[in-house]
Amino acid sequence: MARVFSGIQPTGELHLGNLLGALQNWVQFQDRHQCVYCVVDLHALTIPKEPGEVGANTVALTQLLVATGVDPDRCTLFVQSHLHQHNELGWLLECNVSYGELSRMVQFKDKSEQRDFVSAGLFTYPALQAADIIGYDTDLVPVGEDQRQHIEITRDIAERFNSRYGQTFVVPEAFIPPTGARVMDLQHPENKMSKSADSPQGTIGMLDDLKTVEKKIKRAVTDNDAEVRYDPSAKPGVSNLLSILGAATGADPAALADRYEQYGPLKTDTAAAVCDLLSPIQARYHELAADPAATTDILRLGAAKARVVIDPVLDRARTNIGLTPA
Ligand code: TYM
Repeated sequence: MARVFSGIQPTGELHLGNLLGALQNWVQFQDRHQCVYCVVDLHALTIPKEPGEVGANTVALTQLLVATGVDPDRCTLFVQSHLHQHNELGWLLECNVSYGELSRMVQFKDKSEQRDFVSAGLFTYPALQAADIIGYDTDLVPVGEDQRQHIEITRDIAERFNSRYGQTFVVPEAFIPPTGARVMDLQHPENKMSKSADSPQGTIGMLDDLKTVEKKIKRAVTDNDAEVRYDPSAKPGVSNLLSILGAATGADPAALADRYEQYGPLKTDTAAAVCDLLSPIQARYHELAADPAATTDILRLGAAKARVVIDPVLDRARTNIGLTPA
């Protein structure tokens, strides 16, 4: 069975892009792989937060993951900061990645451009992400398109470490779904859907009221030529709706385009498909949110299961570098 690892930041409510690009695959992979899923709270600290914010978001995010179908009995679900091993391994990897490589990360450039205070953690972020992944002898990493470069650098770091110090790490592969890997903003379809978007009208929160979801999709930006065709560069708005409908229903967006002559029915069907997807998740989330102690138990158990996997990998890295035994 392949080992799967993925992570998500507790930086506020999840959106439809997280669900279609990543979480749907997290859930499906549990049937056929050994899955480890992590709420990466340390990564969330790379952009300064109010005291208490990340902790509260961590609990809520865990509940939303479980509501989506991440099943703590069939996978390992835990919080990054509960295992100091991530930081230890992160340091060993930081010393095996160059300033130049980290400077080329598109997400670093994007995120550092918008702020006055750029933390050192934001810069070294990919080394910690690499530790998350290779600390679990991971074969496959289900992520959206925006994480492709981070998985590439993870592979480079693992390969470099193996060639410097001898075979230590499994070199992982990204799994990026054919549909839904890059859900775009509904108002600005040239930008990806994100929590930090200027206009909330362009982003569908997983906990948005369903009437609001419907309204946002019906008001999504399309274009003037009234032709339903899947062509992301010439028709980004319409193609985004086709991708959303495709990812929500398991259909191919280009084939879906043939079924529609007008934008109205496409929007109606997309809204219905998204609401069908979100409705049971929201109901389950509200049940889980009523019992925070149960979430704490899930995370304690998850950390214990994760520790058993990462400890020997960290030992292997220390031994192969040749650090003196503790
Ligand atoms: P994060 O928290 O930004 O996003 C979580 C997952 O959601 C995907 N995603 C999208 N997919 C499609 N369309 C979108 N508009 C969209 N927006 C987000 C992301 O690709 C991701 O799969 N660096 C990571 C967290 C991380 C991680 C890891 C991931 C830390 N360690 C180890 C994998 C393995 C991040 O910030 O994801």
